[in-house]
This record gives sequence, C-alpha cells and structure tokens, in this order.
Amino acid sequence: MVRIVEVGPRDGLQNEQVPLDTRLKAAFVAALAEAGLREIEVTSFVSPKWVPQLADSGDLWPLLAPGPLFSALVPNAKGLERALEVGVDRIAVFTAASDAFTTKNVNMTVAETIEVFAEVIAGFRARYPGGWVRGYVSTAFECPYAGRIEPAQTAEVAARLLELGVDEVSLGDTIGVAAPPEVRALAAELDGPKDRFAWHFHDTRGTAVANVAAALDLGFTAFDASAAGLGGCPYAVGAGGNLATEDLVYLLERWGLRTGVSLAALARASLPVLEALGRRPTSKAQLAALSAP
Ligand code: HMG
Ligand code: MG
Repeated sequence: MVRIVEVGPRDGLQNEQVPLDTRLKAAFVAALAEAGLREIEVTSFVSPKWVPQLADSGDLWPLLAPGPLFSALVPNAKGLERALEVGVDRIAVFTAASDAFTTKNVNMTVAETIEVFAEVIAGFRARYPGGWVRGYVSTAFECPYAGRIEPAQTAEVAARLLELGVDEVSLGDTIGVAAPPEVRALAAELDGPKDRFAWHFHDTRGTAVANVAAALDLGFTAFDASAAGLGGCPYAVGAGGNLATEDLVYLLERWGLRTGVSLAALARASLPVLEALGRRPTSKAQLAALSAP
C-alpha cells in the first residue's frame, strides 16, 4: 500500500508572506481530507517570529474535523508544550544532514537537534505512549549553504533519528536538486527497512516525479507532497515548491497503485488558498484535472 503524506498546509504555506485566515486553512485541510488524503501535516509549533504564517497553529488545531491522521512539526520543548496543550498526538521533529542548514533553520547544530529531540520524544511519549513520531532529514542531497552532501552523511543522521525511536524518517530534497541516480545512491546507504523511510521531494527543477519513480522502483512506498505544489522553506534560499500532490497521485494511479485520492476533488481543494495568495494553479496534473470535461 502506498502512502501519501500531504504537507501542503504546513510546508506549502509556511513561506507565504500573505497572512491567511485560520478558517481558510481549516477549510483547506477539510477539502484535502474530503479528497481522500489520510495523512495530513497541518502546521508547526515553531517560533512565530521565525515563521509568522504558522503562528496560529494553536488556534487551527481545534478547528480540525476528525478523520485523517493529523500531525504537526515540533522543534523543541516549548513547541511540544504548545502542541500538547491543544491535543496534537502525532509529531514531526526536523533536522538536516548539514550543520550549515540547521543553524539557519533552527539555530542549532545537527548534534544539538538530536539532543533536543531526545527530550521532545520522551516528553511526547510520556503523554502518548507509542505515539507516532516522524523525523525529517533536510538537505538530504544538497545544502544551499554547504553544497553537495554525501549519501553516507544523510544516512548517518537518519540512523541517529531511528535510534531516538522515530517511527519514520522523511528524507528531504529541500531545494529540489536531486535526480534519480542520487536517490538510488542514498537508498543504498540507508540502514533499516524500506517502510521506515519516506521521500520528501521539492520540485524546484522538475525532477520530483522522476525521483518518486526511482524510489518506487526500489520498493519505497511513502511520499510527501503538497497540494498544488505549494511550498518552500523560509531558511532554504531557492527552495521552490514541493512535489504537487496532484502530480504524485496521477503518477501513482497510472502506475497501477491505489491512492484512495480523487484527483478531481484534490485539484479543487487548493483553489481558495491559491486565490487568497493571488496565484494560479501550475501543477500539470492539477491543470489537466481542472480542465477535464
Ligand atoms: P531561537 O530563537 O534559537 O529560540 O529559535 P530560543 O530557544 O533562543 O528562544 C527564543 C524565544 O523564542 C523565547 O521567547 C522562546 O520562548 C521562544 P522570549 O523569551 O524571547 O519571549 N520560542 C518559541 N515560541 C514558540 N514556539 C516555539 C518556541 N521555541 C522558542 N517552539 C527555534 C529556535 C527552533 C524556536 C526557531 O529557530 C524556529 O522556530 N525555527 C523553525 C524554522 C522552521 O519552521 N523552518 C521550516 C520547517 S523545516 C522545513 O521546511 C524542511 C522540511 O520541509 C523538509 C525538507 O524540505 O527538507 C521539513
Ligand atoms: Mg520541505
């Protein structure tokens, strides 16, 4: 069974400068759920000074209608406290393969993030024994500040996260540079069963779908994507949009894999958000679905 983790409400919106109404975000999440997405990363409990767009995470969470599995990013103890206050029961911690990136993104070295996460995960599991935790490794292929990253370096950080007890590691091509041979090279270095890894491709240079195909060929079954290809990281210069969920769903369905997602409903789910941002759809599969008779 293939899994799609929809990160549009979080990764898709975090870099947007136009403040979006919390109810519009809740409606976006509801529309994504209605389209059939079962795992949705909704928001982040990060510093509102660092990511103003997601400052409303504590107000957004209670507006979510039950159904899908919802999760949120948590960077530290303060974030965990805020997340637990509103009942967040699935969290994602996030580090990177390069100190240069984590220093810009979370003001810590990679080693410092691992120390902080040990406490965050312990605190989280004290409240929710066996609660689901994802760990991200950003700059899995290349860092906007440190350049190319050796696959072994990324695999090492992924191994540290698994040792901490995360359920899954998501490998982030943060700035959307990788091509299939790099996916194969990184996959060869990973230690652990394939179902402990998800791939998080940004589509800055149009290689995301090809990278998904490479990972599928290797037997991986979990992929992150963002409706309409919204997205970018505020601390990754040049990070373009995420892989569009529409493009991913089209590829998977055409591949013969069932996603449970209605492409027609998904293509419409992001339209109110795009309108509020003054954008037009650009995902190829979304455009095709919207223009279908
Ligand atoms: P800092 O400034 O070093 O934090 O930021 P601090 O511990 O020194 O605290 C400074 C102030 O912030 C204090 O308040 C804290 O209470 C407050 P003051 O005493 O000055 O009034 N504070 C917080 N407030 C609310 N929530 C919190 C929190 N923590 C501290 N959680 C920090 C460190 C980690 C907080 C900051 O750097 C941060 O929030 N960074 C988040 C950046 C971010 O969200 N980046 C995008 C997500 S990662 C990504 O997009 C990549 C990914 O998609 C995968 C990929 O594509 O590769 C996942
Ligand atoms: Mg990302």
